[in-house]
Amino acid sequence: MAQIIDGKKISTQIKDEVKEQVAALKQKGIDVTLAVIQIGKDPASTVYVGNKKKACEYVGIRSLAYELPEETTEEKLLELIRELNDRTDVNGILVQLPLPEHIDEQAVIHAISPLKDVDAFHPVNVGKIMIGDYDFLPCTPAGIMELIASTGVDISGKQCVVIGRSNIVGKPMAMLLLQKNGTVTICHSRTKNLKELAASADILVVAIGKPKFVTADMVKEGAIVIDVGINRMEDGKLCGDVDFDSVEPKAGYITPVPGGVGPMTIAMLMKNTLHAAKLQHNLA
Ligand code: GUN
Repeated sequence: MAQIIDGKKISTQIKDEVKEQVAALKQKGIDVTLAVIQIGKDPASTVYVGNKKKACEYVGIRSLAYELPEETTEEKLLELIRELNDRTDVNGILVQLPLPEHIDEQAVIHAISPLKDVDAFHPVNVGKIMIGDYDFLPCTPAGIMELIASTGVDISGKQCVVIGRSNIVGKPMAMLLLQKNGTVTICHSRTKNLKELAASADILVVAIGKPKFVTADMVKEGAIVIDVGINRMEDGKLCGDVDFDSVEPKAGYITPVPGGVGPMTIAMLMKNTLHAAKLQHNLA
């Protein structure tokens, strides 16, 4: 039987710490502010953006919501980002991904000031992570590091396998595990012996976007299993990339879906926004 890693509880602890510090900044006359931009009405994005706004309310961060129509041009979006970059009362800027096809995602990411880039997607921030000297960590991998830390298991020397190589999760995740002296393997759709590699992992992070992809035969006895997947099933229920029911009896620790990684991503966004405000006021 695995211990369930309670992301909801850990994320609340983090948000409560942020809340205290946001209130302390307010005492100094600083109203921590996050601008959240959504283009179009992708239902999943609407849910995520809604959760981000709710979290802002909880911790006392002011959120500015920009909900723009699907047909918004790239130039209009870049203009808005430039305006937000220049505003001293805006500390963080988040553009919800994915963007409509006619907008160049990289151009948008490049346009956000690295000092306000609370997603840590800008190449300057990505590069800083690579050399281990960073201001911001991308929210999902940073949240996963907190979840692993909560187990008390030392990453150093462990076999760490990351399934998925996205810029948002897989790649930075691998880098953070490496910085903690894990021996890291990244698996992806072209990996030939994925099952064996996964089964060799002491720490397995799954971010592949395929419901119940990881089954018990792909998990080592006692492993830490982190499930980044959020898949909506036909019956409307959410399920992860890990087949929880079969893997849970074998794993040492496992994150549930929902209530595992998801809430951590948002808590780390709050932490990054607070940090951005501190950086901009020379308080970090
Ligand atoms: N879309 C899915 N995950 C994320 C995220 O962490 N940040 C942004 N901006 N968009 C996303």
